Amino acid sequence: MKTIGFFNNKGGVGKTSLVYHLAWMYAELQVRVIAADLDPQANLTSMFLDDEDLEVIWTEQSRVQTIFGAIQPLLEGLGDIAEPARYSR
Ligand SMILES: Nc1ncnc2c1ncn2[C@@H]1O[C@H](COP(=O)(O)OP(=O)(O)OP(=O)(O)O)[C@@H](O)[C@H]1O
Ligand SMILES: [Mg+2]
Repeated sequence: MKTIGFFNNKGGVGKTSLVYHLAWMYAELQVRVIAADLDPQANLTSMFLDDEDLEVIWTEQSRVQTIFGAIQPLLEGLGDIAEPARYSR
C-alpha cells in the first residue's frame, strides 16, 4: 500500500481539497483508495458524503461512527476501539 501525505504549516491553503480531488481521480483510474478523515473539522468527510449521510453519522446517538467515536472508549478506559463508519463508492 502506498501512503501519500500532504503537509503545510499554513491553514486553508488547499490541503484537504487536493486530497479529495486526488482520491476520487485515483479511484476513477481503478486505484483502490481509502480516505480516512482524522481532522476534527471533518472537511474531507463533508466533501465525500451528502447531507443525509452526514446527518446520520453526526447525530449524538451515532457519534461512535466517527473516528473520534471509534477511539473514545479507549481514551476513556471503557473498552476497545469501536468500528467507525465506512462508505464505499
Ligand atoms: N486551488 C484552489 N483555488 C481556489 N480556492 C481553493 C483552492 N483549493 C482550495 N480552495 C478553497 O480554499 C479553502 C480552504 O481549502 P482547504 O479546506 O482544502 O484547505 P486546508 O489547507 O485543508 O485547510 P485547513 O488547514 O483548515 O485544513 C476552501 O474554501 C477551498 O474551497
Ligand atoms: Mg483541511
